Parts: sequence; C-alpha cells; structure tokens
Amino acid sequence: MNPLLKRLQPYPFERLRQLHAGVTPNPAYRPISLGIGEPKHATPELIKTALNASLSGLASYPATAGEPRLRQSMAGWMQRRYGLALDPLTQILPVNGSREALFALAQTVIDPTQPGATVVSPNPFYQIYEGAALLAGADTWFAPSDPARNFAVDWAAVPQEVWKTTQLLFVCSPGNPTGAVMGLDEWKLLFELSDKYGFVIASDECYSEIYFRDEPPLGGLQAAAKLGRSDFKNLIALTSLSKRSNVPGLRSGFVAGDAALIKPFLLYRTYHGSAMSPIVQAASIAAWDDEKHVVDNRAMYREKFAAVTPMLARVMDVALPDAGFYLWAQIPERFNNDDPAFSRELLALYNVVVLPGSYLAREARGHNPGTGRIRMALVAETAECVEAAERIVQFIQSTSA
Ligand SMILES: Cc1ncc(COP(=O)(O)O)c(C=O)c1O
Repeated sequence: MNPLLKRLQPYPFERLRQLHAGVTPNPAYRPISLGIGEPKHATPELIKTALNASLSGLASYPATAGEPRLRQSMAGWMQRRYGLALDPLTQILPVNGSREALFALAQTVIDPTQPGATVVSPNPFYQIYEGAALLAGADTWFAPSDPARNFAVDWAAVPQEVWKTTQLLFVCSPGNPTGAVMGLDEWKLLFELSDKYGFVIASDECYSEIYFRDEPPLGGLQAAAKLGRSDFKNLIALTSLSKRSNVPGLRSGFVAGDAALIKPFLLYRTYHGSAMSPIVQAASIAAWDDEKHVVDNRAMYREKFAAVTPMLARVMDVALPDAGFYLWAQIPERFNNDDPAFSRELLALYNVVVLPGSYLAREARGHNPGTGRIRMALVAETAECVEAAERIVQFIQSTSA
C-alpha cells in the first residue's frame, strides 16, 4: 500500500459525524443543517436543457484538453469577468471541479525528491490542500489567518527557511471558511516571494461570484496582469461552476494561467484519465456563456446574508464576510472556546448542525486558529437560514442566562 495514505487526516465531516453520534436532536424541531458547504439553490434550467440536448455525446471518448468551443467559452468568461485576453489553447484547461484539479496540480508540480519539499497553506483551509500535499510526498506548513485583519493570512509568519523549500503555495480567495478576499498588495507580496523562491501559486477562486461588496473579488490572474505579469509566471487560478451556477453535481471547472504549467498539467491529466464528459462540456458552455443566473444567484445570497448576519451579530462575534457563503463566527465566552461542545449542544437542544471551526484548521505552533469558532454555511433558502439563526440566538441566550 502507498504509505502516504496513512498521513491523511479524517475529513471534517467524518469528524462531525463522530461528534454527533449518540446525540439525540430535539424532536420538537425539524432538522436544519448549516454544516456542509453544498449549494442548494435551484440548478438553472438552461444547464439542464443543455445536458438533455447533448446526450449523443455519450457515444465518444472526450479529449482531456476539452473541446475548443468549451475553452473559448471559458476564455470569454475570463475576458468579461476580469478583462483578461487568455489563449484558450495554451492558458486554459477544463477540469472536473476544482477539488480534483487542486489535488492533481499538486501531483504535477511537487518534486518529492527535493529535500524538505513543502506546501504552504492558509489555516483554516480546505482540506484537499493538505491531502494533495501529503500524497504528493510533500510536508505542509500552515500560515494562520488573522482575525484582527479581516482574516487575512499572515504570510509574514512563514519563516524564510520554509519559503526556501516551498514548491507550492495554496491561496483561497474568497476564503473558505473566512470569506476574506485578497487585495493587490497581498498578491504583490506573494508574487515577489514566488519569484524569489521559485514556488508555484495555486489560487483557489471557486467562491469568486458570491460576494457582498459592490466590487467583485480580485482574481489572481487579474492581480498578476495589473502588476505587469502578463505571462502569469508560476501562477494557476482554479475556478468552478459548482457555486457560481449551483451545480456541485456537474463536476465542472477550469484552470487558467501560466502556459508552462498548463502543458505538464495536461500531460499528467491525460494519464490520470481526467477528461470531462462531452455532456458536461455542453452544459458547461451554456453555464459559462450566461451571466444572468449568476447575478440572480448572488442576489439571493445577499438577501439571505442581510437577513441572518444582524440576527446572529446580536449574540456572537460575527460579521458580513467579503464574499463566499459562510459565516465564520466566534462562539460566546461561556463555551470556553469549546467549538465541538457548542456544535453538539446546539444539535441536541435545537436540531441545528454547525461545523466546529477547529475541524477546519490544524494546530500549528501551539495554536489552532479555528478553535472557539464555528462555520455556518448559508446554503439553504432564506427562510430556513433565518429559522436556524433564530434557534441559535435562543440557544445562546438560554445557555448564557
Ligand atoms: C475552498 C474550496 N475549494 C474547492 C472546492 C471544490 O469545489 P468543486 O470541486 O465543486 O469545484 C470547495 C468545495 O466546497 C471549496 O470549499
């Protein structure tokens, strides 16, 4: 067996299941889950129609590089969204969702024969970053997010010795779970570090279309272009339809950026067998070509966050994030930072599931930056999220009495 498999950590939802095993939720309430970050808004009709109309695609093997029409569609979206003129042939590649692409990219980029091969990740983080690094034969180094700076990652905490052996840096903007969006200064710093130490930056941008400020989140490639880095050296951005278009089951996204990375990535993917189904390609073209459903979707999240955030802010330290669909809240003091206990008691008394923050982060240098926090995914319809918030308010008020 591959010995590296033993280094993998249990997934947060596995830990949540164990935490909640044996808890009897109060039967007076119907269950509401704010646990899993799975989009729940309706799948747009135009995507279903395109799927139905393309069933003839079942009859042929797709190319790993995808159909030219699909890549054009992706490039068109990058042009409209970020003002970038990308070459669809060399700078864009379809992927089956950003999760597999994050994983596969690490396998392509990491050279485990180099001493101390390291992957730097934000903390808290999306657990695939860690698994991808470990299975590629690298070690991880976790840079904490800083609550005092709107959860920006403290890159200055990464010692020079670590940067020297870093081969890959994961960034997540908008962040899961914090919702923080990286600004141009932060990108500039990371590009300088990448130039100095030679590492690749994988920019996970799958929440980019759900945002609460007027200005859309800055993309990694957009930041590079603004700073005159027109070849996107050592930079790959990953994006996805899952959240943008409410199709987590479609498994569709793309990567874009440095052509010198896309080429070996395509080679790796050819052997891995990661071609996108022709049916999914047809549906993806329909999705990337349409923006109206994205605007409507964003409006629904805005309405929901505007209703729920002030309710919760009365009883706990929580604020509207820059973007994404999570609230990343600090639990009240009386819980002594015990976020798993908060989650368990809330389920038992009010039948609401929230994810303990410590499950989304690692203890590093004596500190787990998720401790004392919970993540609430506001993915259900507004009325259900408001009801969950009402129960959380009652829970906190009753337990602090
Ligand atoms: C930060 C982050 N990146 C990537 C993904 C993967 O999304 P998908 O594979 O559906 O594109 C998720 C899914 O929840 C996520 O939260």
